[in-house]
Amino acid sequence: MDAIKDVRLITNSVEGWLNDTEGIYLYDSARSCTGKGVIVEIGSWKGKSTIWLAKGSLAGHSIQVYAIDPHTGSEEHRAIMPYIDTYRDFISNLQMASVNHIVKPIRKTSAETVADFSSPVELLFIDGAHDFLSVKRDFLNWFPRLIEGGLVVFHDTDWDGPRKVIEQLVLNSRMITNAGFLSGSSIFHAKKIRKNSVSDALFNRYLIYLRRFSLYLSTIQLPASVKRIGNNALKFIS
Ligand SMILES: C[S@@+](CC[C@H](N)C(=O)[O-])C[C@H]1O[C@@H](n2cnc3c(N)ncnc32)[C@H](O)[C@@H]1O
Repeated sequence: MDAIKDVRLITNSVEGWLNDTEGIYLYDSARSCTGKGVIVEIGSWKGKSTIWLAKGSLAGHSIQVYAIDPHTGSEEHRAIMPYIDTYRDFISNLQMASVNHIVKPIRKTSAETVADFSSPVELLFIDGAHDFLSVKRDFLNWFPRLIEGGLVVFHDTDWDGPRKVIEQLVLNSRMITNAGFLSGSSIFHAKKIRKNSVSDALFNRYLIYLRRFSLYLSTIQLPASVKRIGNNALKFIS
């Protein structure tokens, strides 16, 4: 698709960690938003994921994207770079992508933002600090803002923080349905529902063990052909 090709070209010039499969997933999710709530991104860095979300939104119902980031990096960044300020690059990347009119940057932490945030949320993308307590706080603070039928998406779910939050809180919640890990990516996604079914709850438990097995497979030495068979067998969880 030409539109996706164009966004790919733009985002490939923006520093960040999101791969194209993940970007296209965010684009499609934002394009599907109906307007019952806004789009919230926690953790923007220089705008790679923000641009995918904003372009998807513009291809759909032009729902406002709130991009929350203090622009001072996370612990893992500050450990290797003593001074971080990504705000200028973020704004100039939004301008370069012509999405600045649809994105509202909020230069604060997610915890500082949530109390004053009054709009319902239809799509929540969590990619801020990756330590367990921060991801837990992001989820607990913002999940109540998500409308029923809204989508929550986590990035970097192979990191311990997001992985544990998904295992302990998300997949154990009775308000989660349609959960899955996107194949070829580190994205986890799930829909919010008032109360899920028993089969949803069982499936969500099952997903925890399948994911652990998949992560284990990626850490051990096996012939490529065996790994391929294992990964193909796990594809249906995405
Ligand atoms: C992994 S980067 C985000 C990458 C971005 N989503 C992308 O695709 O390029 C994590 C970002 O989270 C931000 N961050 C750290 N703590 C935060 C917090 N409490 N609230 C919001 N953002 C936070 C950092 O400043 C950093 O820019």
